[in-house]
Amino acid sequence: MSKINRVWRLRKRPVGDITDDVLSFEEESLPEPSDGEFLVRLNYLSLDPTNRIWMSDTDQYMPPVELDAPMRGIVCGTVVKSHHPDYAEGTIVSGLGVWSDYQIATPQTVTPMGDTGAVPVVDAFSTFAVVGPTAYFGLLDIGKPKVGETVVVSAAAGAVGSIVGQIAKIKGCRVVGLAGTDEKCTWIQDDLGFDVAINYRTEDVPKRLVTACPDGIDVYFDNVGGEILDECLKLMNFEGRIPTCGLISHYNATEPVPGPYNYAMILMQRLRVQGFIVLDFAERYPEAIAVLGQWMAEGKIKVRTEIIDGLENALQTVKKLYTGANTGKLLIRVKDV
Ligand SMILES: NC(=O)c1ccc[n+]([C@@H]2O[C@H](COP(=O)([O-])OP(=O)(O)OC[C@H]3O[C@@H](n4cnc5c(N)ncnc54)[C@H](OP(=O)(O)O)[C@@H]3O)[C@@H](O)[C@H]2O)c1
Repeated sequence: MSKINRVWRLRKRPVGDITDDVLSFEEESLPEPSDGEFLVRLNYLSLDPTNRIWMSDTDQYMPPVELDAPMRGIVCGTVVKSHHPDYAEGTIVSGLGVWSDYQIATPQTVTPMGDTGAVPVVDAFSTFAVVGPTAYFGLLDIGKPKVGETVVVSAAAGAVGSIVGQIAKIKGCRVVGLAGTDEKCTWIQDDLGFDVAINYRTEDVPKRLVTACPDGIDVYFDNVGGEILDECLKLMNFEGRIPTCGLISHYNATEPVPGPYNYAMILMQRLRVQGFIVLDFAERYPEAIAVLGQWMAEGKIKVRTEIIDGLENALQTVKKLYTGANTGKLLIRVKDV
């Protein structure tokens, strides 16, 4: 085992885009687990849009990362030293950790991955740790799509959005996705089976949404907020549902984001707009993993993971989420399991 631990620490709160001086990458000595704790060596680090939220000192669903503290992240790692009877060395765990090669964990922060069967650990972590359950509960519990309805999803070639669209197809819906490049649009339409893909950066979104949704929108799965939310509000049907999953167009904003201007549609069309955090459904994760796993095995859901090697690349890689340079789930690999 190395005696050196490389750690990303939050040094400055970002204003606007994440800049290079926001985090520092330093060599430190290995932490020592106390009773009830164990030392985990990082295998994979999930990079998520919420990383930018955690860096900010704003009201959020968890305390922000403190200045000079290690950067928080969703991690998958291997127990290498244990002072906990239930976590033997060699146990593969996942959960909430930090951006460092080695870290102290407890049963409150991580849980064993268990036997992932024929599914490689990296794929199980990539799909089931966060984004699969987010898509599953957000769409099915909050969006409640019915056969024949129209579901629109933004950031549709991203980790959550690409799964949302495919679940909506399984449920017999017409599915329209918005994404930021032609390559992404081709992928979700030709490979994932979306009915229509709209490149929101190059196409006339209001016009394209009207033609793509001739019967209006019943469910708008919102990953981005901002102008796309506003355009979708205009087309919402009576008693439509809007699961508010994320607001990525707001995360790097330096001024409050105005709108939505079509807010009145919530009243006129008796809409339900509900925010959720996937952690709200933590007790039902096994259900989501079982159903999604079955759909994946049957070829009904395809996932894409973009793996970048090296913890030293975490800062440059996380920026991709806010420029649209990623397709599917973005992970850092430190060491394969
Ligand atoms: N509520 C929860 O518990 C929960 C859990 C996980 C994720 N989320 C949220 O779900 C959303 C998607 O997360 P993810 O992990 O699946 O990430 P992702 O979609 O794989 O990556 C983010 C994507 O958002 C798009 N994007 C970035 N800036 C944008 C902007 N200004 N306007 C429109 N699109 C923009 C980019 O794709 P384009 O090329 O299409 O622009 C980018 O690839 C995020 O808002 C995230 O915060 C919520």
